[in-house]
Amino acid sequence: MIQFLLNQELRSEHALDPNLTVLNYLREHVGKSGTKEGCASGDCGACTVVVGELQTDDDGREHIRYRSLNSCLTFVSSLHGKQLISVEDLKHKGELHSVQKAMVECHGSQCGFCTPGFVMSLFALQKNSDAPDHAKAHEALAGNLCRCTGYRPILAAAEQSCCAKQPDQFDAREAETIARLKAIAPTSIGELNSGDKRCLVPLTVADLADLYDAYPQARLLAGGTDLALEVTQFYRTLPVMIYVGNVAEMKRIEHFEDRIEIGAATALSDCYEALNAEYPDFGELLHRFASLQIRNQGTLGGNIGNASPIGDSPPLLIALGAQIVLCKGETRRTLALEDYFIDYRVTARQESEFIEKIIVPRAMAEQRFRAYKVSKRLDDDISAVCAAFNLRVENGVITDARVAFGGMAAIPKRAAHCEAVLLGQPFNNAVVERACTALGEDFTPLSDFRASKEYRLLSAQNLLRKYFIELQTPHIETRVTAYV
Ligand SMILES: Cc1cc2nc3c(=O)[nH]c(=O)nc-3n(C[C@H](O)[C@H](O)[C@H](O)COP(=O)(O)OP(=O)(O)OC[C@H]3O[C@@H](n4cnc5c(N)ncnc54)[C@H](O)[C@@H]3O)c2cc1C
Ligand code: FES
Ligand code: FES
Repeated sequence: MIQFLLNQELRSEHALDPNLTVLNYLREHVGKSGTKEGCASGDCGACTVVVGELQTDDDGREHIRYRSLNSCLTFVSSLHGKQLISVEDLKHKGELHSVQKAMVECHGSQCGFCTPGFVMSLFALQKNSDAPDHAKAHEALAGNLCRCTGYRPILAAAEQSCCAKQPDQFDAREAETIARLKAIAPTSIGELNSGDKRCLVPLTVADLADLYDAYPQARLLAGGTDLALEVTQFYRTLPVMIYVGNVAEMKRIEHFEDRIEIGAATALSDCYEALNAEYPDFGELLHRFASLQIRNQGTLGGNIGNASPIGDSPPLLIALGAQIVLCKGETRRTLALEDYFIDYRVTARQESEFIEKIIVPRAMAEQRFRAYKVSKRLDDDISAVCAAFNLRVENGVITDARVAFGGMAAIPKRAAHCEAVLLGQPFNNAVVERACTALGEDFTPLSDFRASKEYRLLSAQNLLRKYFIELQTPHIETRVTAYV
């Protein structure tokens, strides 16, 4: 059985198809059709809902953290122990919620199809803001598309929503909701099943390892932002899933003197603070990774686990010399991330083995790490090329060189020839030009709808030139790269 709050109503479910998305659950099982389906692929935001989770601050204060998610890519089992809020829950005692009033007063809606999704993104923004902030509003709304209104009135609604916000019914009931969430906090393995299909929800790494041993054919479900597409876009059935998002040990970020350890089930938006503090370019890239809804549910482990050649974090992690800890039963092994990727979607992961955590070395003196993402749109777009450069330059000489790319091969890959040219050489224009030529030996990229092979190779070379120029002239800050 799994349990969650549908706003304030306790739902206990056990005989549901585990392939059921929260979107279809709301619309077809509980008759709440305010949440809309636009794309069913995480691109439009029409299906945005807000999920509340109990959190305890460092000072011991308990509160509920509200986050926007795409309900079209969220399976119901991932609600276990949480609170689901949909657009129907915002109106209270006959009065529109302040974010809904702001949309009306700022003329933020025309045909209205996108409006419930925008309203829910605004609600999450308001819950997480103390004052209007244009950048935060842009970030909160970048995953919501509107084809008729135009975004200016909606951004005005965002500003109004965060101006002098008043406590709402959710604030008034916070203590009561916390008590209810504590009462349903999972204490044993949850399960949702229907016929032969099941999704298991372990709480510890040991339980996860046992379950994966017992069900080696199971698909691991983290944020579901890749996995759910198999159901919503390719109409496949996933007969057995194991949801890793309730395994507390895999959602921790721990800082050590020489490394940061990030649990594989940590949401990308939670990775932001730690990685941005250590490597600002990593933070910058995470801001351009999909949309806030996707980053709130997608995980770092899932971004590695899907083994996509165009995943954004692997090239950066490889350039940083990151390692992953793989767990199978009681056995653990640590692998350099670059050795995890073997061929297109083929990895070194063995049967019943899963990624437990990612180990990222701390920044060192003289280390010059930069990352670049080239995509057709600035927000919510997949990379055509993603580049990460990590050179150590001491007294003008390159003493360590790690260069990695996404989008250039069947796997995220180091540029071995390029690195060999750079290593031990002075960091100057002539050496960089030779390294650019060597990139042609490292990669034979493909042409696809994102970019031609010629464009990809030229972009990779130009990004290396850009890196060199930026390090010579540190006042140049043009790292966020897009093309049209
Ligand atoms: C609209 C949209 C935009 C996107 N934009 C980007 C983007 O800009 N950049 C980018 O890189 N990606 C992007 N993605 C892809 C996706 O969001 C990321 O890859 C995300 O990190 C996947 O994480 P997840 O937790 O949702 O993985 P899931 O979908 O849950 O899982 C993905 C795969 O990894 C496996 N897996 C999950 N956890 C583990 C584990 N602990 N050990 C072993 N295997 C595991 C799963 O079994 C599955 O095969 C986008 C996706 C969408 C829908
Ligand atoms: S329906 Fe478009 S993001 Fe979910
Ligand atoms: S109001 Fe019509 S799509 Fe936004």
